[in-house]
Amino acid sequence: MLEVSAATVAFTAPGGPIVRAVDGVSFTVPAGAFVVVIGTNGSGKSTLLGSIAGTVRLDSGTIRVAGQDITRWRENQRARYVGRVFQDPRAGTAASLTVLENIAVAAARGRHAGLGWATRRTLRAEASSRLAAIAPGLEMRLDQPIGSLSGGQRQIVSLVMATWHRPDVLLLDEHTAALDPAAADRVVQATARLVRDQKLTALMVTHSLKQAAGLGDRLLLVHRGRIALDIDGAAKRRLSADALAGRFDRLRRADQLDDAAARTLRDNYI
Ligand SMILES: Nc1ncnc2c1ncn2[C@@H]1O[C@H](COP(=O)(O)OP(=O)(O)O)[C@@H](O)[C@H]1O
Ligand SMILES: [Mg+2]
Repeated sequence: MLEVSAATVAFTAPGGPIVRAVDGVSFTVPAGAFVVVIGTNGSGKSTLLGSIAGTVRLDSGTIRVAGQDITRWRENQRARYVGRVFQDPRAGTAASLTVLENIAVAAARGRHAGLGWATRRTLRAEASSRLAAIAPGLEMRLDQPIGSLSGGQRQIVSLVMATWHRPDVLLLDEHTAALDPAAADRVVQATARLVRDQKLTALMVTHSLKQAAGLGDRLLLVHRGRIALDIDGAAKRRLSADALAGRFDRLRRADQLDDAAARTLRDNYI
């Protein structure tokens, strides 16, 4: 479970105005929920995820994960509880190491040597089955340098690494944005399978309205550092991309979304 309460993060550009990148945001994500986050560029999505990961400090408010107040914890202290996959397929993996060696690094992280994945054979078998479960065929690549994989394959290995120790929260910040549409689709499917099979609690930022409508149990629209739309339950399950575009129009008419933002969000509609 993730609980964000009255979270605020302000930045001051040199000589410029104060930007409230996250402006008093509160929401609770129950364990096992898959939340999709959308919003225009600069709306505060990455700052919000960064404040959960510990790369960004809150100016006020609190963040609790699995019942613990982690607001003042450093990034490395949160690593056991929070897994992350970034936009750049090269981030978080070592190109010259093999797929299995990269996974071994993730498996060893935060654990004492000799505990857990004691033998190489156990690790190989487990890595193989976890890859096969979400991207059949990728388990054949365990001994190849990760740098020889495509961007999409690399993101799938990154997903397996980020979730190796089953984090309480998985943060995905536009992890398919750098990929071509076919690869993005495969990574999205692998993500959905992984989150469902492992019953993970996940926050996924995307620019794709198709993904936003079709994936997850809940949808948050972030606008100017606030949550402008929060759809879950049955309403989320029956949400189509068309209906979502209609919701943007309604928000615009109610002056809760400006014209440019409504247009940008709609233009992502594919
Ligand atoms: N380190 C920073 N220093 C100053 N301003 C920042 C910093 N990080 C983000 N911002 C500003 O905060 C706002 C939100 O940014 P961000 O969270 O990256 O948005 P998004 O991920 O939705 O595109 C933007 O106005 C951005 O320019
Ligand atoms: Mg961002």
